[in-house]
Amino acid sequence: MILLNPGPVNVSERVRQALLRDDICHREEEFYSLLYDIKLKLIQAFARSQDYRAIVISCSGTAAVEAAITSIVQPGKKLLVIKNGVYGDRIAEIAQAYRLGKIELNLDWTQPPPLAQIESSLNADPLIQVVAVVHHETTTGLRNPVKEIGELAHRYGKIFLVDGVSSIGGENIDLAASHIDILAGTAGKCIQGFPGVSFLLVRDSLIDTMRTYPKRSVSLHLPSYCHDPGVPFTPSVQLHYAFHEALAELLDEGVDRRIDRYHRASRFLRRSFRDLDLQCIVSEDYASNTITAVRVPPFLTYVELHDQLKVRGFVIYAGQGALYSNIFRVANMGALTQADFDGFISALEQVCEQAVVGR
Ligand SMILES: Cc1ncc(COP(=O)(O)O)c(C=O)c1O
Repeated sequence: MILLNPGPVNVSERVRQALLRDDICHREEEFYSLLYDIKLKLIQAFARSQDYRAIVISCSGTAAVEAAITSIVQPGKKLLVIKNGVYGDRIAEIAQAYRLGKIELNLDWTQPPPLAQIESSLNADPLIQVVAVVHHETTTGLRNPVKEIGELAHRYGKIFLVDGVSSIGGENIDLAASHIDILAGTAGKCIQGFPGVSFLLVRDSLIDTMRTYPKRSVSLHLPSYCHDPGVPFTPSVQLHYAFHEALAELLDEGVDRRIDRYHRASRFLRRSFRDLDLQCIVSEDYASNTITAVRVPPFLTYVELHDQLKVRGFVIYAGQGALYSNIFRVANMGALTQADFDGFISALEQVCEQAVVGR
């Protein structure tokens, strides 16, 4: 089955085979060295600077974002949440669940956030300590301008938190140049590992600051993960093997080449959708490299489209929130080839043609 959902993704045989390595104890040297090497590879792939530390947690992408939020906000201070999709909403929901102070910017889901509006929020409330944004809003396939938002946050002396769960490995991210202080990512999307292991790239100098804040969560408090050599709780050891292999595979391919491969695939898909008279909901100017949201054509329902494509070997993804029944999403993350995308487009063409004829 070809997975065109935004994770779990199709993985290579190399990564799948890594699951079958030895049974090891996580309190032994073997696991310590595996974890050490995963962190090294994360820094090598994404940070290229001594200023960042990698923290690895056996958890979902949401939990990694939750770990960042609950660890980084000083008591009495606020989070400015830039919301232009479901995952921006989720950041606010997490802050709400922990009763953290927050200001929410409710923005158009198909447009990048207006910088002037962010700036006026920063001017209006000096209690804002952290600016939070989703790099790639998986809801619509919109890439938010993290560099510009980071520059603004930096100019105002704020901490910049980025949900990079669906972008890291698939989009260019220069942590230092974008003034990113903490970024959440996961193994099971553009890194092409399995879900179940996630990570944070954190500006090293912030770890000691976070230690001075009260612990809001037992299992998601980031400073607890900074006592080398191990992790505080039992990790998903086999998934770490696969994550390690996926990172090695990424470094072999080259991060820039991976990003370029995704970019070409997403461009191909959007061009093909337009050729089939299907309408993408986000402008090409800020469309991501990894997912495309398309209006469901009037002659089909989403369920019909999904089921008929699945019979042909392709899994597409529904819309979320207000876009639930109006759109379908096609991700191009994972160990996929041009032949897979060609096959998908001809299956889609067939399904559309049959639906029009059958009306
Ligand atoms: C941008 C973004 N953030 C967070 C998440 C949540 O990740 P998970 O489903 O692993 O909790 C997702 C999942 O697709 C995502 O795309």
